[in-house]
Amino acid sequence: MPLNKLSKEEITQSYNKYARWYDILEKIPEFLGINRIRKNLFRKASRDVLEVAAGTGNNLRHYPKDCKITLIDLSRAMLKIASRKARRQRLEVSIQEMDAESLEFPDDAFDTVVDSLSLCTLTQPVQALREMARVCKPNGRILLLEHGRSSNERLARWQDRKADKHAKRFGCNWNRNILGLVGEANLEVVSIKQYCFGVFQAIEVQPTNMSIEILRQQMSG
Ligand SMILES: C[S@@+](CC[C@H](N)C(=O)[O-])C[C@H]1O[C@@H](n2cnc3c(N)ncnc32)[C@H](O)[C@@H]1O
Repeated sequence: MPLNKLSKEEITQSYNKYARWYDILEKIPEFLGINRIRKNLFRKASRDVLEVAAGTGNNLRHYPKDCKITLIDLSRAMLKIASRKARRQRLEVSIQEMDAESLEFPDDAFDTVVDSLSLCTLTQPVQALREMARVCKPNGRILLLEHGRSSNERLARWQDRKADKHAKRFGCNWNRNILGLVGEANLEVVSIKQYCFGVFQAIEVQPTNMSIEILRQQMSG
């Protein structure tokens, strides 16, 4: 698995710069059906919802209307667009600049934790998954819509060949093994759906006591 070629600061700067183009470039995954996948997965969110690395707020319209939503991201410019969208959709949303790898929320604070299309970008994706599990209630759900290494070997090998160049340019590690990361974080997969030769994956995950225990040990050590 390639290492992320950009530092956290570089990733933040690059998203701050690139924020106004994000929704235009999003037309490519939209063409591949990403909106339908977002809608089908995120309508499962309930009650108190935290979305990490929320970007420009493209999932806002898919949450059930009675959810209480909190969005966090490192990029102020991305969140500014999310805030505009929330206003336009007449949603009351709490929006904060925060690192997904070190969440400033107490344990068991949310019923649903969401991440979409960001495990490819995060510098420490396993740490972020453990943090999602920590702030999620034990009977809550973590909903992940990610892109990663294809289940089609030919396509996967092509992704591998281009991965380094792509990561250096965009900070996006497009051949990460998403289920492998979920496993490393010791989270329990409840359901998984794959799309576009397994490049996109909608994964429903349950936080397990084991992942929370590992994180607590890390924090105290
Ligand atoms: C590809 S965008 C995805 C945005 C959104 N989730 C979506 O589905 O359209 C990746 C986002 O991750 C954010 N990000 C990267 N590293 C982060 C971190 N450590 N903590 C919080 N956000 C981060 C970036 O600022 C960017 O908004």
